[in-house]
Amino acid sequence: MVTIKHSRPGVVLAASLAALFLLVVLGCSWIDVTTYYQQGAVATGAPIATDLAIEVLKKGGNAFDAAVATGFVLAVVHPSAGNIGGGGFAVIRNGADGRVRTLDFRETAPLAAVETMYLNDDGEVIDSLSLYGARACGVPGTVAGLHALWQEYGSMKWEELVKIAANVADTGFIVDDFLAASLTEYHRELTLYEETADIFVPNGQKSVAGDRFLQLDLARTLYAIAAEGPDGFYSGEVAEKIVATMQKYNGLITAEDLASYLPVWREPTHITFDGYDIYSMPLPSSGGVIVAQILKLLEPYDFARLFPESVDYIHLFCEASRLAFADRSEHLGDPAFYAAPSTLLDAGYLDARRKLIDPQHATPSTRVKPGSPPIRESEQTTHYSICDDDGNMVAITYTLNTGYGSSLVVGGAGFLLNNEMDDFSIKPGVPNVFGLIGGEANKIEPGKRMLSSMSPTLVLKDDKPRMILGTPGGSKIITVVAQTLLNSIRFDMSAEALCAQPRFHHQWLPDMLYLEEGQFDINIIQGLIRYGHSVKERKPYSDLQVIELDENGMMTATSDPRNRGKASGY
Ligand code: GLY
Repeated sequence: MVTIKHSRPGVVLAASLAALFLLVVLGCSWIDVTTYYQQGAVATGAPIATDLAIEVLKKGGNAFDAAVATGFVLAVVHPSAGNIGGGGFAVIRNGADGRVRTLDFRETAPLAAVETMYLNDDGEVIDSLSLYGARACGVPGTVAGLHALWQEYGSMKWEELVKIAANVADTGFIVDDFLAASLTEYHRELTLYEETADIFVPNGQKSVAGDRFLQLDLARTLYAIAAEGPDGFYSGEVAEKIVATMQKYNGLITAEDLASYLPVWREPTHITFDGYDIYSMPLPSSGGVIVAQILKLLEPYDFARLFPESVDYIHLFCEASRLAFADRSEHLGDPAFYAAPSTLLDAGYLDARRKLIDPQHATPSTRVKPGSPPIRESEQTTHYSICDDDGNMVAITYTLNTGYGSSLVVGGAGFLLNNEMDDFSIKPGVPNVFGLIGGEANKIEPGKRMLSSMSPTLVLKDDKPRMILGTPGGSKIITVVAQTLLNSIRFDMSAEALCAQPRFHHQWLPDMLYLEEGQFDINIIQGLIRYGHSVKERKPYSDLQVIELDENGMMTATSDPRNRGKASGY
C-alpha cells in the first residue's frame, strides 16, 4: 500500500497507478508506505512543534515563518534543548533568488571572560564549573537569531509567530512519556537551583505523563518578546532578570553583554559531491568543514564494493573521521579571533591526508596528528527541518549544550540558560563534555563564539532543493550528518532508512570506535577489532530530522525513530 497525501488529483492518480504497478511487478513482496507532500513539510523533535509549524504553513506563512514559530515553541515543549537561553545556527535557501545563506546565532563569551576562568590556582580544571550554573553560560543568541531570520525572510507578523509559543506556555501542554522520562533522567540537574526546581520539580513533584505543564513566567517572557522583538529579551525587564540571576550565582553576563549581542549572516561551507551541492554551517561551527572533509576523503573510494554495515565501510569512514577530527582540534575556532587555514578542503591537502588511511588497519590516534594545511598567501541539542513549495528551505540546529543546559533558570523569567562555555577549550588538551579537545584556536576570549559541531545542512541538485537534514548529538552530529549524506547519495537509502540506520562514531580522541548497541553483528564487531579498532557499544543516539524532495519537488519527511519527533506535511 502506498500512502499519498496531497492535493492534486492527477498526482494521486499517477502515484496510485505507480503503486499498483509495483504491487503487480513485485508480487506484493515489497510495500512502500512513503507519504508524499506537495506544499510543505516539517520534521522536528517534538510533535506539538511539528503540528504548530504545519498550521503556520497552512495559514499562508512561508518556511521561515514556520521556522521562527518552531524555534519558540520548542523552547516551551522541548525544554531540554529547545531554548531562548541558548543559541544555534540556520542554513537556509531563499526560494525567490535561490541563494543559500547561513545565520550564526551562537552564544558568545561574556566580556568579562578570561582564558583561565575554569582553572584553580594550580592551573587545574575546577570540576563542573563550565557545565553547571551561571559561570557556564554564554550570552544567548536564539532570540536575536530568530528575529534576524524573520526580518530578512518572514512574511507573517512577528508578534503572531511568537505568540504561538507564548500561548502554549500560558495554557500548558500535556506531558508525554518522552518529557516525563527526561525529567526523571535529569532530576539531579533540575533540582540544583531553586529557580529551576520551581518550574520543573515544583514542591518536589515532577510532572508525569498526562499532566498539564504550565510555564507562566516563560509565557510572560515570550509575550514581551512578541511585543518588543529582541528588545523584550536583551534589554528591559527580562535582561534585568538575567543580570540579577548572574549576580546571585556569580555569573559574568552583564547588561552590556546582552545589549551588544548580534547574530551574523555568513556564507555557507559548500562542496559538490556526486553532482549534489551540499551546503552546511561554516565556522564558528566545525560541522560544515568536518562533514565536508569526511565526504571528500571518502569520495574516491568505490562504494559499489562497500555496504553500509560492513567492516570495510565502517573502518574507512572512521579513519576519515579520525583525520578530520584531528584537524578540528588544532585549526578551528571563531573566525573573528582565529584565522583557520583556508585550505582545509583543498583537493591536494585532502589527497595527502587520504594517503594516511590504511584500508585494513586502524591507525592509532597517537600516530595521527592534525595536518598542516598549506598556508595560502594572502543530548541536548535539537534540530528541525522545514520547506515549502516556494523552494524555501530551513535547517536549524540550536541548543543549550547539554540537556537543560546550565540547569539554571532565570529567576522570574522562566527559561533555562545554556552551558555553552564548555564548548571552548577550557584548558589545552583537556576534553570537553563531548570528549573533544582543542587549544589556541578555541581558547576562551571575551566576546568570542565557542566552536560548535552543529551541522544543519541543505542539499541541492541542479539548483533544486533535494534534502534538509540535521541532528543533535554533540560531536556525533558530524558523523551522523556525514553518514546520512553518504547513505542517501552513495547507498541510495530512503528517508526512513536514513533515520533508522545504525550509527557509528570516531572522533580521533578518544581513540575509540563507538557503535550503537545491539545494532551490529558480532562478526562486524570482531572484524573491526581485527582491523585494530578499539570498539565500544553505546546507547542509541541522534534525533535526525530529514526532509527529502524528489526532482519534481514532492516532499517526504522523516523523524528519527529513536525519539518522539514527528515529521509531517500537506
Ligand atoms: N554544544 C554542542 C555544539 O555546539 O557542538
